[in-house]
Amino acid sequence: MTTSIKDLTPRQIVAELDQYIIGQHDAKRNVAIALRNRWRRMNSVADMQREITPNNILMIGATGVGKTEIARRLAKIADAPFIKVEASKFTEVGYVGRDVESMVRDLVEQSVNMVRAAKKEAVQVRAQQAVEDAILDILIPPVKPVNGQPHLGFENEKSDPDAELNERTRERFRDKIRSGEMDDRKIDIDVQQTQMPNIGVMGGAVDDLSMMNIQEMLSGMMPKRGKKRKVTIAEARTILLEEEAAKLIDMDEVKEEAIRKAEDAGIIFIDEIDKVASARSGNGGGGPDVSREGVQRDLLPIVEGSAVNTKYGVIHTDHILFIAAGAFHVAKPSDLIPELQGRFPIRVELQSLSEDDFYQILKEPKNALTKQYEAMLQAENVSLNFQDDALRELARIAFEVNQDVENIGARRLQTVLSHLMNDFMFDIPDVIGANAQVVVTKELVGEKLNGLVKNRDLSQFIL
Ligand SMILES: Nc1ncnc2c1ncn2[C@@H]1O[C@H](COP(=O)(O)OP(=O)(O)OP(=O)(O)O)[C@@H](O)[C@H]1O
Ligand SMILES: [Mg+2]
Repeated sequence: MTTSIKDLTPRQIVAELDQYIIGQHDAKRNVAIALRNRWRRMNSVADMQREITPNNILMIGATGVGKTEIARRLAKIADAPFIKVEASKFTEVGYVGRDVESMVRDLVEQSVNMVRAAKKEAVQVRAQQAVEDAILDILIPPVKPVNGQPHLGFENEKSDPDAELNERTRERFRDKIRSGEMDDRKIDIDVQQTQMPNIGVMGGAVDDLSMMNIQEMLSGMMPKRGKKRKVTIAEARTILLEEEAAKLIDMDEVKEEAIRKAEDAGIIFIDEIDKVASARSGNGGGGPDVSREGVQRDLLPIVEGSAVNTKYGVIHTDHILFIAAGAFHVAKPSDLIPELQGRFPIRVELQSLSEDDFYQILKEPKNALTKQYEAMLQAENVSLNFQDDALRELARIAFEVNQDVENIGARRLQTVLSHLMNDFMFDIPDVIGANAQVVVTKELVGEKLNGLVKNRDLSQFIL
């Protein structure tokens, strides 16, 4: 019935994830099951659909081992609305006791954007046509009245040749507009503008939702003003395309579809959940612990399933997939309040990454860092090659710095690589010109980085 859930099998999902994430098989396997289970729910008998609850997941693993990356990729694969929040932000002053629902509103917002973009894509051709017509009308206004009736005063013999000439000129210009030949020519267009008053937060008495409603209401009351602007045809095309596409899209339909998509396919990633868990035993309580537990209590209804008001309508959170993540170095999952623990039945532990994992991460993923640098230099017509033993050396260095200084997981590869490449990135194209070849050897890596690695004080700051 619904098409908002893609039908990828668990193995297919893992295969997709494998293209971006090295290792972490247990985590991939479990998110794949969770994703497939949503499809299974949508395709089960109607009575059961309401009963089947999602397999919310708790990911446990040190920083930089791929927790966020897995969730983000999963959402991409599923074409699912996705947002990430840090649980700890709700303990900050000013957040306590409210606003936890904002994560659901953000999800809906995301969903609306996705649905709107898809619809825009679907009306693209028609909108482009309309834009072309509009630009043409500005350049060569039609003599033939639009409703097909002849002008008063102009009689048949006289108007016909004129109209014909006009029509022929228009067709000629239509070709020119289409080919982009006239892109630099300036024309006057009417631009719709809504005057938006800027309202500040009123003493914290208004929550997000009422705020949005006020903004919405006011923007509805404000006159939409057409403003004449002189722009090039190329610019006009972009501006008018937005307007024409908007005319062709039914916003009510978008809202409805977006709510449904968020309900059935949405994924909310709650990071740093361990920061709101407190080791309760032996702790006298009070202060920050109270607010942490408060955040957990606030999260509970959302994760358990409740109705949340958004400016696009009411959304039920029962079937949203929640993935919580944390390092859990100090607090343990069992330090979460029991009700919340129960709502994250699937625990997956992510492995610390080995030196060999680092090597793979540098080399294999579709978006591997080395590939990103290659692509950037390709844009300068410079070819970049990393020799295999250079990658091994980079992995070794990153691993070593992680052990000596601080373990930040695969993020270390970014600092190491950016330091290695820094001079090249500056010298290209001024000193190292187009058609050059840069080969990164093990020796080069050693030359650029070994001094730093040996000097702990330096590497603390630079790598
Ligand atoms: N297993 C992996 N395979 C490929 N890339 C990885 C892997 N782990 C981490 N990375 C890379 O390292 C970066 C950081 O990873 P990610 O954001 O997933 O960390 P995290 O586990 O969420 O850490 P934190 O607890 O700090 O949020 C990502 O941009 C990703 O490209
Ligand atoms: Mg993360």
